[in-house]
Amino acid sequence: MRLTERVCVIGGGGLGYGLSSYYDCNVYALDAGSEIVVVDAGSGIEPERLFRRLEEDGLPENKVSKLLLTHAHADHAGGAAAWKRRYGVEVAASAATADMVASGDEIRTSLAAARASGTYPPSYRLVPCPVDRIARAGETVAAGDLTLQVVAAPGHSFDMVCYYCPELKALFAGDAVFAEGKLAVLGTPDFSMGDYRATIAALAGLDVRELYPGHGPALAVGGNEAIAAAERRFRRGEPPLSIV
Ligand SMILES: [Fe+2]
Repeated sequence: MRLTERVCVIGGGGLGYGLSSYYDCNVYALDAGSEIVVVDAGSGIEPERLFRRLEEDGLPENKVSKLLLTHAHADHAGGAAAWKRRYGVEVAASAATADMVASGDEIRTSLAAARASGTYPPSYRLVPCPVDRIARAGETVAAGDLTLQVVAAPGHSFDMVCYYCPELKALFAGDAVFAEGKLAVLGTPDFSMGDYRATIAALAGLDVRELYPGHGPALAVGGNEAIAAAERRFRRGEPPLSIV
């Protein structure tokens, strides 16, 4: 589904667009002209539903070149191996994410706990996927006629990065911040409210028009306002509003 001239949402589950597996995060395809960059992989459950949407949205499959992961939670990274198998994409992720995805670490990604609590089906497993490129904070990933800056964003999970495209003023936020300034507050060991607060303060320093979060609606305008709303609650000592 095309959201803007350059960005389509090609997947999203129960907490999002209902386009693909219930367990998928929002999966975005960024049209960078000569190549297509996919942000987050989905869960890997029925990945064909995502692949099909590329064509439906007029995005040539032979241009799919890169997969950028925001963090290692299974709804975002579980499908990486399927993307690599199908398109031979270059997979990029933070060093910590890369470590967990390459080894299929179900403890540090909190998948084992999430599965035990019924968040994922009992038979679901994290399929390991090699990561080709470490996305370090401050570095830029060049893609076609666009660039994506890697922004460290720990809090929701310690390994999170966002990808900021200055040409579009677009933030691919993973689970760092959502519409209405909501956050994704978890009780898992990889969560830190202190880090989350610092991340939101840092994101408030970017000029964000388009906000593409990992769940719920994307914003074609008003990204700055959403981030400011989250930041304001922290500053006032109010508990963040959470999507979960
Ligand atoms: Fe997450």
